[in-house]
Amino acid sequence: MERDTTNYYEAFGGQAFFADLVSQFYAQVATNEILRPMYPESDMKGAAQRLQMFLEQYWGGPTKYQEERGHPRLRMRHAGFHINPAAKDAWLECMRKAVDGVEMTPEHREKLWRYLEGAALHMVNSFD
Ligand code: HEM
Repeated sequence: MERDTTNYYEAFGGQAFFADLVSQFYAQVATNEILRPMYPESDMKGAAQRLQMFLEQYWGGPTKYQEERGHPRLRMRHAGFHINPAAKDAWLECMRKAVDGVEMTPEHREKLWRYLEGAALHMVNSFD
């Protein structure tokens, strides 16, 4: 099988794509009653920047996340938040709306969504 050398950062639409995705996601979070209280009231902009930098880096774009925040260790960074299945579902519901709200091919949408679903499941750290 040939190695997949696609740069998905570019293929999805580069920085403008990720900025759009993340801003739609946080617009959903802002009105979600499970998620809203978990995020820093006074630093939603910072939270959005961190997620955007992370996703850009993950998909092969600029490595600003690593430079500013170090190794992602996302499960560890989420350990301080109460992430039960309901919180995971709420996060994915907000993300689903964002993913459906950006322009991309069905194949790319499917690929992005599969990743996000798996990553969200991995972040669950509580069952109550
Ligand atoms: C499963 C449900 C999830 C919940 C409830 C959740 C919640 C949170 C909260 C409350 C923060 C702190 C906001 C901030 O100040 O940065 C955060 C940070 C972050 N989350 Fe999540 N998250 C979830 C899943 C995910 C997933 C699936 C990803 C990646 C695909 C992700 C990526 C990040 C990143 C990159 C940060 C910033 C980490 C840092 O550098 O400090 N999160 N998350």
